Amino acid sequence: MPSKKINVDYSNMKSFINENELTEIQKRVTIAHKMLSEKTGPGSDYLGWLDLPYQNQQAINEISETADEIKQNADAIVCIGIGGSYLGAKAVIEAIQPERGVDVYYAGNHIDSDYLSQLMKKLETKEFYINVISKSGTTLEPSLSFRILKRFMQSKYGNEKSARRIIATTDKSRGLLKTYADAEGFRTFAIPDDVGGRFSVLTPVGLLPIAASGVDIYELLGGALEMAESSADSDITKNESYLYAALRYLAYKKGKRIEILANFKPALHYISEWWKQLYGESEGKENKGLFPSSVNFTTDLHSLGQYIQEGVRNIIETFLIVEKSKNTIHVKKESDNQDGLNYLSDKDMDEINHKAYLGTSAAHLDGDVPNMTITIPSLTPQTIGHLLFFFEKAVAISGYLLDVNPFNQPGVEAYKKNMFKLLGRPE
Ligand code: PA5
Repeated sequence: MPSKKINVDYSNMKSFINENELTEIQKRVTIAHKMLSEKTGPGSDYLGWLDLPYQNQQAINEISETADEIKQNADAIVCIGIGGSYLGAKAVIEAIQPERGVDVYYAGNHIDSDYLSQLMKKLETKEFYINVISKSGTTLEPSLSFRILKRFMQSKYGNEKSARRIIATTDKSRGLLKTYADAEGFRTFAIPDDVGGRFSVLTPVGLLPIAASGVDIYELLGGALEMAESSADSDITKNESYLYAALRYLAYKKGKRIEILANFKPALHYISEWWKQLYGESEGKENKGLFPSSVNFTTDLHSLGQYIQEGVRNIIETFLIVEKSKNTIHVKKESDNQDGLNYLSDKDMDEINHKAYLGTSAAHLDGDVPNMTITIPSLTPQTIGHLLFFFEKAVAISGYLLDVNPFNQPGVEAYKKNMFKLLGRPE
């Protein structure tokens, strides 16, 4: 069993990618590593995320104190944001499922009136804060939800008290939201200029809601710091993050077009959603990149499993496995064995789930879906800190291997342009 923070097992890739190819790609990984560490590659103005694990304690304490205030005065926080402005927080909170904080609700990540109406109904009986999060301060979805939720809050608490319950996380000086917050007297937290949305989970964007939910953000950042240090070597035999980047790049070069991130724990669903944004926005440009997709097993083995086993063979699969659950459930022997499950007695559910994973990875390999496995020991703030930084570092390297700028997202503007024209927004 892995003793490393994160283990990448690529034995089920070996019939598809040979060791020589890995040795050969090392040269390019070393160049990409140099570009990243010397900040000479495309998008190097957006490498502030590399320093986030080392950020100053004072800033973290301020977030933690604000989270304590929220916990004292409320039972819920509404996080209004989209893309990188909510996915990191949701991924961490769902993975950890903390018990000692406030409930976290999300808004502004779509434009659905039914959802917002139901949310306001739930909030009628709750004491709540609003954290509106937008780096640009102009994104339609969160701005619109904020306008509606702010009015709802003011009808409950009045304008003055509401202003004390609204916290804006945005650019330190630019953008509509910053001007608006200053004019209305909302507290603000700043998103560093050199950190893009999808890399912002370890800034106040993610840390404030994560801390309010009851997750220990010091432990989360400690995990990220450990991963920053153990992923500092350019050698893929010593750096699992770079090994993962190299494997998925080689798979792409050999004709694979889709990477499916597969978990066997529902708590990881939003880690996959966060990963999809990170990889999709970082790599999908200039007609290049693996399409990042995800499945939740064993649930999706009864739906998408058929396609993965026998559909178009342009897929690789990456299993994200957690060695140990927080809870153990043993199967007990029953004298009548009506359900025929006595062959499982004395096993625990983790063991059964693990056999399901082993059976799946072997079947998919037989079905010509090369796969690798990323294993973490458990789900704690520290291990999630490892995982977040592992994926961030890997996408920077695989983006450079692909010869794209991993830190921009020019394609996101196209739909907005059309939508704003249809809505008649003034220039
Ligand atoms: O990664 C990104 O930059 C984007 O996905 C943004 O996070 C998203 O579009 C939200 O942008 P903003 O925070 O400016 O509202």
